[in-house]
Amino acid sequence: MAPALAVEELTWRIGGRAIVDGVAFAAAPGELLAVIGPNGAGKTSLFNLISGLTRPDSGRILLGGRDVTRLAPHRRVRHGLGRTFQTSSVFPGLTVAENVQLAAQAAVSGPIGALAVWRRIGGPARDRAADALERTRLAHRARALAGALSHGEKRKLELAILLAAGPSVILLDEPMAGMAVEEVPDLSELIRQVHRDGATILMVEHHIEVVLGLAERIAVLHHGALLACDRPAAVVDDPAVREAYLGEPL
Ligand SMILES: Nc1ncnc2c1ncn2[C@@H]1O[C@H](COP(=O)(O)OP(=O)(O)OP(=O)(O)O)[C@@H](O)[C@H]1O
Ligand SMILES: [Mg+2]
Repeated sequence: MAPALAVEELTWRIGGRAIVDGVAFAAAPGELLAVIGPNGAGKTSLFNLISGLTRPDSGRILLGGRDVTRLAPHRRVRHGLGRTFQTSSVFPGLTVAENVQLAAQAAVSGPIGALAVWRRIGGPARDRAADALERTRLAHRARALAGALSHGEKRKLELAILLAAGPSVILLDEPMAGMAVEEVPDLSELIRQVHRDGATILMVEHHIEVVLGLAERIAVLHHGALLACDRPAAVVDDPAVREAYLGEPL
């Protein structure tokens, strides 16, 4: 079976500097792969390339065996790709339910179509949205304004928005960023459940205990290059990885 996601010798340069430098790895269908690395290692840049926000200078990106390197971001979404961003990206003036319904409708009719019809969003999109709210345990907050949510709830809402589009390959960029420690296990459990439900997940995360608790393999980026991609135990023991985190606990 083709990998759910594969990147081949992916390189992205700015001003002569390789921000992402010949990165190659593949995620099997249903795998949860964590992407770690020191600040500025190129993790978000890698996600931007995979989701199509930026174009690589060389290399290829394959979704389910299909080359999507030249496809626009929304076309990649149609091929089952979904992502969250490192900083919050919800509409604060809309309710929780409206945010998720808009995402569900966009999956059906495209982003512009969703905005055009959003006051009368149809049944299938409503059902998908309700399902996404149930899965993220946000149904009881459906009528709250997104802007009034706690930070942890906003992060769950981002996951609900993502799930509403029904993606099969999910990129999570620091889903726990800025969360209170007591909120971390809850979101961690939600991600575990999304993974159990069959999604392939790539997750950038600095909380190493979350990474070790969830990831089947860990890819380590350093100065844009892939330093290791292996089982958690092997990565933790890798001298090159320890060297990259010099001074920082892994
Ligand atoms: N559009 C851009 N223009 C110039 N430099 C950029 C751009 N995007 C990223 N960089 C640089 O590329 C490097 C990698 O950035 P990136 O955001 O991908 O790192 P990261 O691993 O996600 O870091 P963090 O853990 O802090 O989120 C950094 O040095 C950053 O300053
Ligand atoms: Mg980043």
